[in-house]
Amino acid sequence: MSIDHDQDVTRAERSDNVPAIPDPGLPEHTWRPTDVDERLAKRAERQVATLFGLSSVCVLLFLVSYFVLDVGDNHTTFAGFGASTVALGSTLGGALLFIGIGIIQWARKLMGDHEISEMRHPARSSDEDRAATLEALALGAEESGIGRRPLVRNSLLGAVGLLGLPAIVMLRDLGPLPGDKLYHTVWEKGMRVVRDVVGTPINKADLEIGDLVNAEPEIVFAVDEEGEHVLEGVELQVAKSKAAVILLRMDPSDITPAKGRENWSVDGIVCYSKICTHVGCPISLNERKTHHLLCPCHQSTFDLADSGKVVFGPAARSLPQLPLMVDEEGFLVAQSDFTEPVGPSFWERG
Ligand code: FES
Repeated sequence: MSIDHDQDVTRAERSDNVPAIPDPGLPEHTWRPTDVDERLAKRAERQVATLFGLSSVCVLLFLVSYFVLDVGDNHTTFAGFGASTVALGSTLGGALLFIGIGIIQWARKLMGDHEISEMRHPARSSDEDRAATLEALALGAEESGIGRRPLVRNSLLGAVGLLGLPAIVMLRDLGPLPGDKLYHTVWEKGMRVVRDVVGTPINKADLEIGDLVNAEPEIVFAVDEEGEHVLEGVELQVAKSKAAVILLRMDPSDITPAKGRENWSVDGIVCYSKICTHVGCPISLNERKTHHLLCPCHQSTFDLADSGKVVFGPAARSLPQLPLMVDEEGFLVAQSDFTEPVGPSFWERG
């Protein structure tokens, strides 16, 4: 306590002895050329309007590029990049850049630039200060010239208004709606279950108790609203990833089949979608003794011995099970497609 007291005394003595630093005040105001020459001010006004106009041109070019440049399989390229990507990026970037430069020029050359000093005050302003602030805002609006310079104001409003259009037209990329595609995969009766990547069919005798295999459908063709057609390229990869499954062999006596699923497994081999029903991560962390399958993303845990029910975590639905059987050569095949949609929930799902 005595030390604190001594320190306070010393501090008080020091503050008595140190002379106050005089307020240096504000430097003398320097007028800019545009403050004193109306001809230069008009020229600066035209420069600012030109920059806002260039921004508007960039937005129009963005819209033209968006609708004209092909982004399909045979898309045009520019310096090795997709021409559409280059055009959309450069035009939208230009639109923002020109508006930014225009506003900087406007502030530097045309808006009032009087220096102001303000004393520190309590956090809440007094009523007088608030009134003064409103007055200062009104003065700022007046000094910015937004009322007196309709060319700058209107070109800025036009440029900013047009900036909303790219966001609106890009909503088109959210479509088309998926229709009933979320309800089905390519699995169908008799389609073989093959090993992921290598694509070899799986005989039921290949799996021992405890084995877990990442697998996929042996897709040759698909049947949809366009009729029967061979799947290739991206379409094939999308179909396979949506239909990805895991196989697990366990002691048949461990399985508690749900009603109607008594014949969905083959000698203790069960098959489930590999896509987590929470937000769609691929799952394959298996706890051998409990037959629990853990999703690494948010730890949802599914019981593969009990119809894929959720035993822990944020997933709201069981893991969809694929009904299995064997063909005449002993290879694992599907009895049908999944009987419910795979993956996360979606709005239209009942
Ligand atoms: S995606 Fe699997 S728990 Fe979240």
